[in-house]
Amino acid sequence: MGHKTLYFVLFCIFPAYYIYIPEGIEEPWKVQLLDASMKMISLTAMLLENMGIITYEEFYLTISSVLLTRPESDGNLTVLDADFGGVPVRLYVPTGAAQRRRPAVVFLHGGAFVMGSCKLEAYNFLNRMVANKLDAVVVGVDYRLAPQYHFPVPLEDCISAVKFFLQDEILRQYGVDSARVCISGDSSGGALAAQVVQALKNDPEFKDKIKAQALIYPGLQLFDTLMPSHMENEYGPILPRKVLIKLGCLYVTKDQALPQAMWKNQHVPQEHKHLLKFVNWSTFLPEKYKKNHVYTEPITGIFNASYLNSVAHISPLIANDSELQTLPLTYVLTCEHDVLRDDGLIYVTRLQNAGVNVTHDHVEDGFHGALAFINSPFHLHLGHRVKDKYISWLEENL
Ligand SMILES: *[C@@H]1O[C@H](CO)[C@@H](O)[C@H](O)[C@H]1NC(C)=O
Ligand SMILES: *[C@@H]1O[C@H](CO)[C@@H](O)[C@H](O)[C@H]1NC(C)=O
Ligand SMILES: *[C@@H]1O[C@H](CO)[C@@H](O)[C@H](O)[C@H]1NC(C)=O
Ligand SMILES: *[C@@H]1O[C@H](CO)[C@@H](O)[C@H](O)[C@H]1NC(C)=O
Ligand SMILES: *[C@@H]1O[C@H](CO)[C@@H](O)[C@H](O)[C@H]1NC(C)=O
Repeated sequence: MGHKTLYFVLFCIFPAYYIYIPEGIEEPWKVQLLDASMKMISLTAMLLENMGIITYEEFYLTISSVLLTRPESDGNLTVLDADFGGVPVRLYVPTGAAQRRRPAVVFLHGGAFVMGSCKLEAYNFLNRMVANKLDAVVVGVDYRLAPQYHFPVPLEDCISAVKFFLQDEILRQYGVDSARVCISGDSSGGALAAQVVQALKNDPEFKDKIKAQALIYPGLQLFDTLMPSHMENEYGPILPRKVLIKLGCLYVTKDQALPQAMWKNQHVPQEHKHLLKFVNWSTFLPEKYKKNHVYTEPITGIFNASYLNSVAHISPLIANDSELQTLPLTYVLTCEHDVLRDDGLIYVTRLQNAGVNVTHDHVEDGFHGALAFINSPFHLHLGHRVKDKYISWLEENL
């Protein structure tokens, strides 16, 4: 079926639906179609979940499984699925004779901690391209997913895989230069990347083996869910605030009380009130993004549950300045039309304040999840622009 036909079929199946496409977005009709499809899928998933047929996230996993790829080697790359310390990974190893030891990139995929895989077409395509362009070894990590495996299992899987890879013997085996390794991730994978780096930067065995981190529209906190970007993009493309909260909560618990409290921004327990200063957008957001929003502190002390400690621990923004100081060279990409925009912007400010070398790219007409649209049949110019920015930063800095 040709791409035009596919778009036409989608267009017929999903007629004008509640879609909000911000001004000035490139290829608006295509984005509308993709967004309408995503929202229909989300609605169907919610309906089926309410009917008790299949859970929301299982429905997503089932339909996205058609986009999983097999490891395919070609003349330039050996691609294979392997096991790094008990965690499934996909490896991309250049076959040509190396001039010198190669750089390496570990990529942690997005999917709100409950879906996605490094084997999905878009990530497979991206990781291949990075391996080719940088003559680098790339490792995609298939960490276990929530809600079957709540926090900290997904994070621990990422840490295990990275630690396994960073052993001298393994780096040597793949011809990797231990001074040129980057940990990357998009969306929830960006959160995982930031946390892996925070964790290993204090570990004498690994701290000198992480040269850089690259975070693409990362989600970095679930403390304040009414930042300007949450309000401006409540119904935004691909990731509406409601879906962010629903899936973000599943990382921590299945208790429905959490998303309800988080929706009202009333989920932070009293014991964590002192941590709110680390995510205070009024302090850390550049003036340009504050617009006419008025800061209201999240309401603390209403909600209390033992699992709330996890909400702090899954938030890399809840780190003090001395913890941030030791972080390596950093790349952060944010998109204007993204509920998670301010997480990234605040991290940029906080890292800069702590003296970390940060490159920040802001995509004015960008929206969350654009990287998922870089191969057939769902190409978006925006997806390619985001991918190219990420790859050029790696080319220049790794
Ligand atoms: C292999 O690498 C060459 C040189 O970089 C490139 O022109 C070619 O397109 C690559 N092949 C594939 C299948 O990616
Ligand atoms: C947030 O920042 C504003 C202005 O910088 C300040 O007035 C307010 O007390 C801060 N609140 C918290 C919880 O840090
Ligand atoms: C909230 O729960 C935690 C742990 O479950 C407990 O230590 C704390 O005292 C509780 N706080 C309040 C205000 O109930
Ligand atoms: C920063 O946090 C770390 C880990 O929680 C703690 O050990 C350290 O004392 C804190 N430093 C400051 C200055 O608060
Ligand atoms: C930041 O790192 C880059 C190397 O990637 C370097 O060229 C640049 O000088 C550094 N900037 C600062 C302020 O250290």
